[in-house]
Amino acid sequence: QWTTSSIVDDQVARIRAEIGDGHAICALSGGVDSAVAGALVQRAIGDRLTCVFVDHGLLRAGERTQVERDFVAATGVNLVTVDARDQFLTALAGVSDPEEKRKIIGREFIRVFERAARDLKEKGDAEFLVQGTLYPDVVESGGGTGTSNIKSHHNVGGLPEDLQFSLVEPLRLLFKDEVRRVGLELGLPETIVQRQPFPGPGLGIRIIGEVTGDRLDTLRAADAIAREELSAAGLDRDIWQCPVVLLADVRSVGVQGDGRTYGHPVVLRPVSSEDAMTADWTRLPYDVLERISTRITNEVAEVNRVVLDVTSKPPGTIEWE
Ligand code: XMP
Repeated sequence: QWTTSSIVDDQVARIRAEIGDGHAICALSGGVDSAVAGALVQRAIGDRLTCVFVDHGLLRAGERTQVERDFVAATGVNLVTVDARDQFLTALAGVSDPEEKRKIIGREFIRVFERAARDLKEKGDAEFLVQGTLYPDVVESGGGTGTSNIKSHHNVGGLPEDLQFSLVEPLRLLFKDEVRRVGLELGLPETIVQRQPFPGPGLGIRIIGEVTGDRLDTLRAADAIAREELSAAGLDRDIWQCPVVLLADVRSVGVQGDGRTYGHPVVLRPVSSEDAMTADWTRLPYDVLERISTRITNEVAEVNRVVLDVTSKPPGTIEWE
């Protein structure tokens, strides 16, 4: 009988056997899988694990704090945050093609992580690399997550030949719901363990058009409002995720107070799904939609229109890029 605490004990014993008195490194994304994998390895080898968190500037409001404060408080893990916001913005300047953005973000991520990993390896502080691979990823073999033939998904991998690590994959036999239970058992906060899916390339693929610092600020503000209102309405468990998308290259005329506005629309994309392979648009209550719309148009200066995406997947994908 697999109880959650027996899974934890079993994995901790396996990790100890695998790593011995070696050192490990783990890239945290802010997501559930890397957080639980990191917490398990921390439980097994303590200070001989270093977690690396890359702030690429494409995060949502509060996500860096969640890792730096809440994850560290819950686990006591050694954390290195690399602030790479300028590097990513520079690399993304002038680019609006979705696949090109994904490739640039993946490439820059590897560059930043590689530098951090190389430093730790040279100090003798990393021979093992922890990855949050789940059972469905293993079964799908080829390794990526989800719809990997349609969009180039972003994962850690692709490190250069001379920087090879032994892989530690403590979640290889687990499904997502088991990973969440293990996370709770390890004392991780609900905000991390119950987090809805969020793409590795982050807000970078939710700005339709070029990614700039100002546009990121605008989208981050609108997204925070939508998430706040959906949570307040108790809808977090009813929706799979709700991307908020900024149509940065579109403007429309509006009126606010005494004046004419010429601002950008944001799209709400609430979806219901079992596994993200197919999805239906979620019939959100009108009063919740109204609150989100009113608040975003009042509080986010550059946005004067909120629209709702009522497309299922297929034919639409969940993300717009
Ligand atoms: P699509 O847009 O293909 O998204 O319907 C399916 C699911 O995958 C998430 N997604 C990603 N997750 N790296 C990830 O880890 C990525 O590059 C990526 N792109 C999309 C998306 O949020 C949805 O849950």
